[in-house]
Amino acid sequence: MKQVYLDTFGCQMNVADTDRMELILFHSGYRRTQEKEDADLILVNTCSIREKAEQKTFSLFGELKPLKMANPDLILGLTGCLGQQDGKKLLQRMPYLDFVMGPDQVDGIAQAVDRVHDTGKPFVWTGFDQEKAYTIPDLPLPKAPGPSTFVNIIKGCDKFCTFCVVPYTRGREKSREPEELYREIRHLVDHGAKEIILLGQNVNSYGKRGLENPIPFHELLYGVAEIPGIERLRFTTSHPNDFTRETIRAYRDIDILVNHLHLPVQSGNNEMLKAMRRDHTIEEYRDLLMELKSEVPDIALSTDVIIGFPGETDKAFEDTLKIMQEIGYSSSFMFSYSPRPGTPANELTDSVPLETKKQRLQETIALQSQLTAEQGQSYIGKNVEVLIEGRSPKPGYAFKGRTPHYWSANIEEREGVKPGDTVNVKVEKVSGHSLNGKALTREEARNPFSPGGRRVG
Ligand code: SAH
Ligand code: SF4
Ligand code: F3S
Repeated sequence: MKQVYLDTFGCQMNVADTDRMELILFHSGYRRTQEKEDADLILVNTCSIREKAEQKTFSLFGELKPLKMANPDLILGLTGCLGQQDGKKLLQRMPYLDFVMGPDQVDGIAQAVDRVHDTGKPFVWTGFDQEKAYTIPDLPLPKAPGPSTFVNIIKGCDKFCTFCVVPYTRGREKSREPEELYREIRHLVDHGAKEIILLGQNVNSYGKRGLENPIPFHELLYGVAEIPGIERLRFTTSHPNDFTRETIRAYRDIDILVNHLHLPVQSGNNEMLKAMRRDHTIEEYRDLLMELKSEVPDIALSTDVIIGFPGETDKAFEDTLKIMQEIGYSSSFMFSYSPRPGTPANELTDSVPLETKKQRLQETIALQSQLTAEQGQSYIGKNVEVLIEGRSPKPGYAFKGRTPHYWSANIEEREGVKPGDTVNVKVEKVSGHSLNGKALTREEARNPFSPGGRRVG
């Protein structure tokens, strides 16, 4: 039996691609190993969204090079977005690589390995399959899905935000056929998945391209919700311009669709939004969320923001802090702008000095920590519903999971409780974006006078 070591950088799309490579290789006789030293094949699935992601990849290859030098039979492949972006240049920089592949070539991983065996010459595969999204081979999975599982519904991105490499590295949007998605989700649920997270760079654009009988995103939501056994449904990531009224209504209609939305704003300033080519104003963004909140008052919101985009003035930066405060996000991913090769923004002068970027990022993080802490405090003493995803790495706690609002949770040991269970947890402590406490029995959660305390939804 041969062994493959797989490492993944970047987003959940890359994790999904790695899983697909694992599945294909499993059926070509490879088993996944966690030890690089034991591997016959090493694949690094890379990301190029920011410069830091690239640096991490190069430092990992620095560690892998000696393994290849010591064992020329070891096959070393670089896959993913950096592969698509830099192609041949990577073979020049790392001549010990056997191949470089882009994200659209992932399904050919077994052929790539065969080609190395056949020719022994390094090669680059970075073509795009423009006809269709991929299909997942109908083969037994190498491992059971976790209680919370991502399902990629759309590949690529057609938005072309000026700072972003994704439209170039992942190509045009293509949706996966609903029937195939329903089949895949049924299979995951039959094998233990409780929560399904529909995944794409812009899930709201689902159905626009690539389907034989197009259906819009909200119809897919209603279709998925009918699959028996799903306890929770989520989706990510959303783009404000494609987020429809019908999707807002779906939150109200679909019980299992949890009350959380990740809706990246990127900046709170109209000039910046224009320069980023987000194609909406901050007023339109705010109106959309106001409408959503009026239909679904109990919704938790999270975002991505970019600090220090070219031309960002103090005033523009303050507008970002203002929108964060106003919306009251429960969490944010905050990034310092990183110029990316081949993107339109790369032509602009990276005008905000590094020091200013650092300082603005610190301020943004401080504001978000304060917003998160305020919301976290309001959970103390209350009960939250947690889907247990696995063992907790936090000392003193046995399990970790998530609430419907997507807060992390750590739970003390309790007999009979196991991953995949949904339990009521009485929150005793909050740290960052984690709610920590004890699992209550059904009886304790139901009875407001039990030691478990008050019931809150
Ligand atoms: N499709 C999603 C997310 C794409 S990548 C969306 O449209 O929101 C995840 C996040 O990385 C982006 O939301 C953005 O905040 C950030 N990002 C992308 N390119 C970047 C760059 N060049 N510099 C800094 N942050 C970037
Ligand atoms: Fe990048 Fe914009 Fe597409 Fe998101 S929507 S992946 S930020 S181009
Ligand atoms: Fe990175 Fe590609 Fe995802 S650039 S964030 S791995 S789409």
